[in-house]
Amino acid sequence: MGFHRISYKEHEGLTEIGLGLESKNSLTVLDEETFNELQMAIDRVKKKENEQGLRGLLFFSHNPKCFLAGIDIHLISQCKTESEAAEVAERGQALFNQIDDLPFPTVACIHGLCLGGGVELALACKGIILSDHSSTLLGLPEVKLGFMPGFGGSYRLPKKIGLPRSLDLILKGKTLHSKKAKRLGLVEGIYPKEKILSMGKTFLLENLKGKSLKESLENLASDNFLTRKIVFQKARERILKKTKGFYQAPLKILDVMEAGFSKGRSSYLSMESQAFGELGTSDQSRNLQHLYFLTEDSKKYEDKDSLDNSLERGAVIGAGTMGGGISWLMAKNKMFPLMKDVSLEALELGVKQSSENFMSLVKRKKMDYDELHYLQGSLSPQLDYRGFKKVDLVVESIVEDLEVKKKVFTQLEKEVSPKCLIVSNTSSLSISDMATSLEDPSRFAGLHFFNPVHKMSLVEIITHDKVSEETIRSLHSWCVHLKKTPIIVKDGPGFLVNRILIPYLNESTYLLEEGLSLKSLEEACINFGMPIGPGRLFDEIGMDIASKVGKILHQRLGERAKPAKLSTQLEEEGFLGKKNGRGFYLYDDKGKEIGLNKDFLALLPHETIKMDEVQIQMRLFLPMINEAANILEEGLVDHASSIDLALIFGIGFPPFRGGLLRYADKEGLERILKALEGFSKTVDPKRYGPSKYLTQLVEQKKKFYE
Ligand code: NAI
Repeated sequence: MGFHRISYKEHEGLTEIGLGLESKNSLTVLDEETFNELQMAIDRVKKKENEQGLRGLLFFSHNPKCFLAGIDIHLISQCKTESEAAEVAERGQALFNQIDDLPFPTVACIHGLCLGGGVELALACKGIILSDHSSTLLGLPEVKLGFMPGFGGSYRLPKKIGLPRSLDLILKGKTLHSKKAKRLGLVEGIYPKEKILSMGKTFLLENLKGKSLKESLENLASDNFLTRKIVFQKARERILKKTKGFYQAPLKILDVMEAGFSKGRSSYLSMESQAFGELGTSDQSRNLQHLYFLTEDSKKYEDKDSLDNSLERGAVIGAGTMGGGISWLMAKNKMFPLMKDVSLEALELGVKQSSENFMSLVKRKKMDYDELHYLQGSLSPQLDYRGFKKVDLVVESIVEDLEVKKKVFTQLEKEVSPKCLIVSNTSSLSISDMATSLEDPSRFAGLHFFNPVHKMSLVEIITHDKVSEETIRSLHSWCVHLKKTPIIVKDGPGFLVNRILIPYLNESTYLLEEGLSLKSLEEACINFGMPIGPGRLFDEIGMDIASKVGKILHQRLGERAKPAKLSTQLEEEGFLGKKNGRGFYLYDDKGKEIGLNKDFLALLPHETIKMDEVQIQMRLFLPMINEAANILEEGLVDHASSIDLALIFGIGFPPFRGGLLRYADKEGLERILKALEGFSKTVDPKRYGPSKYLTQLVEQKKKFYE
């Protein structure tokens, strides 16, 4: 059997193994075939070593984007038992131990992405050399999928860079650029991409053996039992604070690394593989793996990799909160955007917003000043349509008023070329209605970004009857190109995320009206895993916007979406949240929360009621599941997975639950239906009346995911 996934070459006593022979355009992963071929290659190296006395082994990649992006997640997701998954780890460990044990110098020459098993392979080599290219990134992201490095990474990394730095990398699943990797002592050298192979060979020929780095202070410090105990304790405290204890993987990783710290390689590795098996097959990891697959699928259009992006020049109309953010996004992606508004003040604010976003990248060392000036300078604020003939895409993001928007589209269509795509960032108006203002509606769609644009990756692409396939395909490719997470939704009230979010927000105000304390409401959601409670979420969105969208949904969906009186009252009282410093909470000039708003509390009933936390959670999340079922019934999205992906990336639904509908399946649809029927009798038949789709699923003994 020959090599297909890897190349194998011997030359003047050195062996070169090239990864990614067949994956030039996608990422190279450690799949079944690559595993087998690497094992065959190492067997051959060992045989040759005995016969001829090899002097060195070098790993590199043929893939221009990627050295090795880790294990193929299917190898874990397909495991039915813990021991099956542990065997996957043992196999990787055995392979990498053989590399580690080779009696001559070994080196990994890395250009492009190197994650998980890729880093673990590199750590098994005696030296690591990186290209200085910005696409070269190293990391151990396993924790983000709910498991741990299982091929000896958690054993070898502390030996190379010390315990505190290793914990930081492994527990956060962070990725590092070349310079940072060098600073941490993870790699032996950084060179231009074209030179890494020759430098790798030099490294081998100079026969550098053992550790080339002097032990860092942290490394020495962690050799001391007491210091080590403190390091682990602090790491545990930080993790608990950050994850609120919801995520089991980082805690388990800490247990393994602490208990195994002083153990020899084989005892440590058997603990590592066991924990890998346990975590990798846990419900939580399965949910996170599911999310990983959903995210990967969202990059494909009709099951095929998204085509190359053809939208090169962009423009935005409206330089407000959203328009400023979208203009920045275009500038960052070298689209030389035109940003048009009707007021100079608005343009100034739009430019300021973009510059602040760029500055934050500079502060986080993700960009230098030269790049900042170049990209910021590429943004053209203007009051007219100059240059619009040259753009490929215009995003409208002006006031939420159908008639005003329609007028803008009619004018805009005359100002752009016939091929230019036109999209609206509306959050609640009908895309089909807007399309009527254009002579050629086939090039028009909704493109709903989330606030703040630089942080929120979700984008809803809204289709309507007259839009062309080509338009949607191009918008999809563009979103993927911009590293956003697109989902395609048919036009309907509130599209997807807002339509499901509004029942949640409505119910929270109803609960407050019933006498539930704000504290109990917020805590119930936090304890479910939401990033913030409804009060703080209202303050982020602004009661004016939430109320406007709420009213539109009430109008279009009927009484089940009726807002509580409290939300109208809050809007009338001017409790707009962060926007004016007064909402459920009070905020200072910089938007920092400074306490509860007593004037808001005065609007709540004097007598508070006690309610079981699970009951509160059901009152909030069941109407969301119900509305999601309506969306599926109306065929606005093809599958439950789009809803799950959208809510995780759009409102921060807890990722460890795998999504709203995956959570519903796990809880049992029959139980959910019964609870809805119960609330429908005790609370409100309109808001809790079970949807037809959900009822049918239960009758047919089906689930959302089937
Ligand atoms: P904003 O009030 O901050 O900005 C609107 C901007 O449009 C202002 O600068 C205004 O001067 C400008 N404008 C008004 N009429 C114009 C015209 N005829 N030509 C050019 N510029 C004009 O509003 P925001 O929040 O940025 O919202 C804009 C759009 O984005 C709305 O459709 C809204 O529904 C949608 N959206 C808002 C989100 C949010 O959280 N604020 C989230 C997602 C979508």
